[in-house]
Amino acid sequence: MNFETKRLDDGIGIEVVGLDLSQPIDESTRRELNDVWLDAGILLFRGIGTSTERQLALSRCFGELEVHPVESIRLEGNDEVIHLSHKDDSRQALYRFDGEAIAGRILWHTDLIYTTTPNRGALLRMVETPEVGGETGWIDTAAAYDALPEETKQRIDGLEARFDFVSNLSKMRFGKPSSIEVVDLGTLEFPEFPDVAHPLVWVHPESGRKSLSISPVQLIDMVGMDRAEGDPILEELVDHTTRGRFSYIHHWEVDDMVLWDNWRTMHYAFGTPPEQVRVVHRTTIKGERQTGRLL
Ligand SMILES: [Fe+2]
Repeated sequence: MNFETKRLDDGIGIEVVGLDLSQPIDESTRRELNDVWLDAGILLFRGIGTSTERQLALSRCFGELEVHPVESIRLEGNDEVIHLSHKDDSRQALYRFDGEAIAGRILWHTDLIYTTTPNRGALLRMVETPEVGGETGWIDTAAAYDALPEETKQRIDGLEARFDFVSNLSKMRFGKPSSIEVVDLGTLEFPEFPDVAHPLVWVHPESGRKSLSISPVQLIDMVGMDRAEGDPILEELVDHTTRGRFSYIHHWEVDDMVLWDNWRTMHYAFGTPPEQVRVVHRTTIKGERQTGRLL
């Protein structure tokens, strides 16, 4: 192997150590990286994302890359990279959590779960770190599923939950912080998405591992059950999954990169106080998977 692996402190995710991106990545290394990714779901590469070219070379090991539909956030000259920065960006929503203004915070979610084609994964590269905040968290929802009591696994088998695109975090139905206040919802406009039903238990098409698909930001209710009956089940699952036991929080240094499997994880952007500068570049790995159904 041209790299070593190390479990991250919380036992969730793996750090890849010693990978050399100054050389092209050969086929056997590419295969080994994919095996490790499939096994762990979250991979950390410290300090080796020194350029867009290196980020793209690593990202391409894991599949075909997607061009983001919103042109204004693409990195100039590289359509497959999106440039995320919230400095002085009035398009983005601003909230107060426990009285403190925070820009760019997005609570636990799986990308594109409000569609029937969530992307396979994504890779973030830290370009400019803020002085305060800016962490990212990941939850391994396969580990969360494994740890459920057997009777809960049986009870949720075959059940579906409904998801919708939610841009206003104060409208979340599950896992919403009690202290959230809207300061400004921003000027970004979002298209309409029809509601989607997904099985509560996802089976990973490549590994066969089961995970929970409960993405709290977009979780609406249980399909075919009234809310009095369905909400307590969803509350219990969200609480079980987000309590901290299955998560890894990354405190970024410049040039760190993290790759995640969007089919078995959720992530959380902590955001920063609005005056802080934070720049990340992200690539998105396409998904061929069709899951759930439109309602
Ligand atoms: Fe996301």
